[in-house]
Amino acid sequence: MPTVHELATPALVVERDALEHNLVTLARALPRERLRPHVKAHKCIALARRQQLLGHRGFTCATPRELVGLAEAGLGDDLLLANEVVDPDRLRQLARLDARVTVAIDSEATAAAAAAAGLVEVLIDVNVGLPRCGCAPEAAGALADRARALGLEVRGVMGYEGHCVGIPDRAKREELCNRAMDMLLAAHRDVGGSVISAGGTGTYDCNRAATEIQAGSYVLMDTAYQKLELPLRQALHVIATVISVSDGFSICDAGLKSLGMDHGNPEIENGEVLFCSDEHITFKPQRPLRVGERVRVVPAHCDPTVAYHERLHLIDGERVLESWEVDLRGW
Ligand SMILES: Cc1ncc(COP(=O)(O)O)c(C=O)c1O
Repeated sequence: MPTVHELATPALVVERDALEHNLVTLARALPRERLRPHVKAHKCIALARRQQLLGHRGFTCATPRELVGLAEAGLGDDLLLANEVVDPDRLRQLARLDARVTVAIDSEATAAAAAAAGLVEVLIDVNVGLPRCGCAPEAAGALADRARALGLEVRGVMGYEGHCVGIPDRAKREELCNRAMDMLLAAHRDVGGSVISAGGTGTYDCNRAATEIQAGSYVLMDTAYQKLELPLRQALHVIATVISVSDGFSICDAGLKSLGMDHGNPEIENGEVLFCSDEHITFKPQRPLRVGERVRVVPAHCDPTVAYHERLHLIDGERVLESWEVDLRGW
């Protein structure tokens, strides 16, 4: 069995025990359909299968590619594209899948695009405070009427409270989440349907309004979510090789082309990160390192980190147990 020392670096690895702990923790807290795992956090069919085995039949996706990959892998029981798409070719491709497909719409244009492509089921995406997609809560009812007039079936609403999920203070996080969900519930009263889809890893245990939670990062975790002190473990690391040592600092071969940096610098085991460049981390180690030694880097944001890598290796300490393709990359 290969060891982590034999992996070509930078190598994306996931620690088995931490992974199992995270999967089981959320499956207990949000059993079966209460969790609709967001696959954008891991983009890996092997991991989606584990989530399905734990009872979660539906998945949340950010890109058409994620839906296509899951459907082709036989994981298409109930797929939600929690994102707006207007590309007619991609929408037609989704309509042809052997899968149950629901897409988010937040405008007449996205409703018309879904209907024209032959899609059937939609959710009304509501802006609950994150300035991204979503219609105004008070516009949701009229949009649902319009969608129904176009022949679409409206399953309910979704509204992602992304502006709350990273707030370290739990009381504040919960308060803002409740406010966001009040908006979503108001929209739902006008829209109808059985689905109220929302939530992320930071709000999985305080969002009580949603019928299903779209958490994704809980599987792998990152330094941004560690600040919240959730009962979840760091499972994802990037293994790097020390390629140069100088007086007081060392350099390893992982940089911002192998790490999602939008949440800041990564952390490094037994060292302090000074700065990152394209292919390098310059860091101050706690003990002198030799060229060729391996170091573990903890990404600040798991989702974009995963998307940079072709493979994800399941490890148990030093042993590499399995290697999976990160097969849901792309759009
Ligand atoms: C639509 C949507 N739902 C849910 C999530 C939750 O993801 P996470 O669990 O990583 O916070 C995200 C993350 O950005 C998202 O965009």
